[in-house]
Parts: sequence; C-alpha cells; structure tokens
Amino acid sequence: MSLAAYIMEQQALVDQALDRIVPPETQSPESIHRAMRYSLFAGGKRLRPILCMEAARTIGQRLEGIETAACTLELIHTYSLIHDDLPALDNDDLRRGRPTSHKVFGEAMAILAGDALLTLAFQVLAQLPRADCPTRSALAAELATASGTTEGMIAGQVRDLEGEGAPPTAERLEAIHRAKTGALLGASVRMGAIYAGAAPEQLTALTCYGGHIGLSFQIVDDILDIEQPSETLGKTAGKDAAQHKITFPAVYGLEESRRMAGRELERAHAALAMFGERAARLHDLADLIVHRNA
Ligand code: IPE
Ligand code: IPE
Ligand code: MG
Ligand code: MG
Ligand code: MG
Repeated sequence: MSLAAYIMEQQALVDQALDRIVPPETQSPESIHRAMRYSLFAGGKRLRPILCMEAARTIGQRLEGIETAACTLELIHTYSLIHDDLPALDNDDLRRGRPTSHKVFGEAMAILAGDALLTLAFQVLAQLPRADCPTRSALAAELATASGTTEGMIAGQVRDLEGEGAPPTAERLEAIHRAKTGALLGASVRMGAIYAGAAPEQLTALTCYGGHIGLSFQIVDDILDIEQPSETLGKTAGKDAAQHKITFPAVYGLEESRRMAGRELERAHAALAMFGERAARLHDLADLIVHRNA
C-alpha cells in the first residue's frame, strides 16, 4: 500500500474512533458538543494517534482497541490548539483551514470546549475496555506528564509565552520546544508501546525515536510558518516573527534549521534499528514529519 493510502486509511480509523467517543451534536447541551466536534473534525493530520497505533503494531501484541487509546492524544492535542489560538495566547483566526473556535463560538465556549476535550481524554483512558488496570493507569500517567507543567505541553506553552520578545537563545529554544510539542509526540509513541506490552529495551528504543521526531516536528513547524502561505498551512503564516517567538529559524537561521531537522531525522531512523522491517511505517512517518509542507 502506498504511504498516501496508508495515511488515509489510518486517518479514517482515528476519525471513526473519535466519532464513537465524542457525544453527538444532538446531545444536550448541544453547543459544547458542536464546538468540540467543530475543531476535532476540521481535518487535522492525526499524526499523534497514527504514531501511537504504529508504535503498538511495531511491538505487535495486544493491539485490540488501540484506536480508542490513540484518540486520547488527538483529544489533548486539539484542546491545546483551541487554547493556543485564544486571544490571550497566540490570538489566531485560522486553524485547520477554518475560523478558530473562539471566532465561531465565542471565547467562553472555546475555553470550555478545550476543557471538555481534556477531561474526556482521561475519562476514555480510565474506561478503556481492552486494557487491564495497570496499563490504563500507565497510559494516563504518560498522557498527563506529557501535557503537564514540569516538562510537558503546558510547561512549553508557558515558556513560549514568556519568551515572546526575549533574546532568542539556544537554551530557551530547546526548553520551549521539547516541552511544547516534543513531549506529546514522544508520549504518542510511548503510549502505543505501553499498550502493546513492550519490553523495557523496546520502550527505550521507541522513546529515543519519539524524542527525535518530536524535535524535528517543531523545527519543521517553525520553518513552515515562514515558508508556506496560510492557505497551505490552514493556519496563519508568519505568526512567529510577528509575535517575536523564539523559534529555530530565529536562533539558527533557515538553512541551519533545515540541517538540524535532517539530523534529528537520521537519529530517529537509527533508533529503530532493532525492529528491522517491523518498523517500516515508523520510518515512513518520520520522513513524512520532516518532508511535509503543512
Ligand atoms: C500543530 O500541530 C501545532 C503544533 C503542535 C506545533 P499539527 O501540525 O500536528 O496540527 P494538525 O493536528 O495537523 O492540525
Ligand atoms: C503550539 O505551538 C503548540 C501547542 C501546544 C498547541 P504553535 O503556537 O507553534 O502552534 P501553531 O503554529 O499555532 O499550530
Ligand atoms: Mg503558540
Ligand atoms: Mg500558535
Ligand atoms: Mg507554530
């Protein structure tokens, strides 16, 4: 199967699982379920759940119900995007090719839609039908840590906001990016491995892979913000420079940033060595992350 066909198939799996998980728009109070679904089904790439499912397949056992666990990453990710776009944060009008949640539903409902997606993610993990209790709690701990305030997404968002206008140093950049985006991408791979019952050395190798794709993902996000138009990105281009964000191109320049993304990609490939052919799709996904144009 071609990579494009594989990605479409995986996206459909994720969308079906999300549709099962999220209450329908007809469920009272309708407005919150409309807002949750508006952002969720706006055409995200679904990279995090796909990475999670593929990491699980690379380990190869206990795969039943993995789509449901994988979807919790998309719930958290979408919540983080809705809040990232709020006027108090990046103040963005466009997301996934549509007006942002607060533009359509108002700020109060956008805040609540983010809160609701976050809460739902942990409800789903707590109730995972096919996983035993230790697995459920390990998955919840991974997701919470990756979203949290020490080295997780919120830590990164705080550093990102507090870094606006500050001198763009390499140390600040690394601290922002590993947490802001890297943590959740790393958790995507780790959660798949944990779900499938990975042995410690397998989990270590996949953690290493996740770290490298996580960093390369955000280097590329920063480059695309400069190089691609809003129509391709589905979000406002040129935002980082306008808001004086600390980004890879701001610290290293575009060319060196591209080289760095390439280096991270090589390291990601190398981390998969022990899995041989079983990791073919994880290799593909790493390439896709670095060579995408949106
Ligand atoms: C964008 O993430 C936001 C960042 C974490 C930098 P994606 O590029 O994965 O966005 P979607 O999910 O495809 O919309
Ligand atoms: C946001 O990073 C990462 C999140 C935790 C949502 P950005 O602010 O760079 O994401 P985009 O570029 O708006 O998607
Ligand atoms: Mg931001
Ligand atoms: Mg933003
Ligand atoms: Mg960005």
